[in-house]
Amino acid sequence: MSTTGMSNVKGKWALVLGASSGFGEAISLKLAETGMNIIGVHLDRKSTLPHVEEIVSKIRAAGSKAIFFNVNAAANDKRAEVIAEIEKHTEGGIHTLVHSLAFGALKPYIAEDKEKLSQDQMNMTLDVMAHSLVYWTQDLVQKNLFRKGGRIFAMTSSGSRHVWKTYGAVSAAKSALESHCRQLAVELAPMGITANAILAGVTDTPALRKIPGNERMVEIASARNPSGRLTTPEDVAKMLSLLVHDEAGWLTGNVLQVDGGEEIVG
Ligand SMILES: NC(=O)c1ccc[n+]([C@@H]2O[C@H](COP(=O)([O-])OP(=O)(O)OC[C@H]3O[C@@H](n4cnc5c(N)ncnc54)[C@H](O)[C@@H]3O)[C@@H](O)[C@H]2O)c1
Repeated sequence: MSTTGMSNVKGKWALVLGASSGFGEAISLKLAETGMNIIGVHLDRKSTLPHVEEIVSKIRAAGSKAIFFNVNAAANDKRAEVIAEIEKHTEGGIHTLVHSLAFGALKPYIAEDKEKLSQDQMNMTLDVMAHSLVYWTQDLVQKNLFRKGGRIFAMTSSGSRHVWKTYGAVSAAKSALESHCRQLAVELAPMGITANAILAGVTDTPALRKIPGNERMVEIASARNPSGRLTTPEDVAKMLSLLVHDEAGWLTGNVLQVDGGEEIVG
């Protein structure tokens, strides 16, 4: 037992896909605070790399280990490279996998040729934002690098059930991601690994600011959220830091709204 009265996660490893910003960053920092070591995967240009260094320093200052990879999480060869490193550095593999990748094409389905969503963009969005969860999980399990009693969390949004112009491909990815979580929950239940999708409310992050009409989205969410404010990455990180403990081991296959009540008043 830890000082919180809950099972101890100290020294266990979390693999966070999308660890350099928004939810993935906050989750990495919070899990490190609880004693977990972090493997972070992210895709950053030179200009944002200093921020990644800051995150790594904060994790180490909390007394945890941090190994970060600036690679495309949807590329098969990069996934293999990171998994080889996981094998080298973690004894017994990872306990928690967090999927928090934002890399979608934000275009309408119906528009003039250049403006409309293409087949490549649809495939890329679904591959990065949904299917990559399955491929990472398959490889980790196959290589015996996913510990019994482990956790999968995947970031979904209201877009899995509501429509926002230009958000069609991401909406489809969210529906697929939730479906993948249910499937993994069932297939991994014999290993005691749980899988849940986390439906965060509208949150001011770089990914949100890329959505056309995001100012209006923020306005609507701020007015509608019964808790009187937007969700923050830390709200979600705090929640996940509870769910990694053994005590949450029977919670699986859900879409968990972590949004101060925003979704239910829609
Ligand atoms: N911001 C919101 O309002 C909101 C609400 C609900 C759910 N979400 C979901 O949360 C997740 C994270 O979004 P965010 O708002 O924190 O975004 P963000 O832009 O702040 O962070 C995205 C992270 O993903 C990484 N990334 C993107 N593409 C990658 C790739 N191909 N390979 C490796 N790393 C890659 C980036 O480097 C970054 O670390 C997304 O799935 C998003 O849809 C966001």
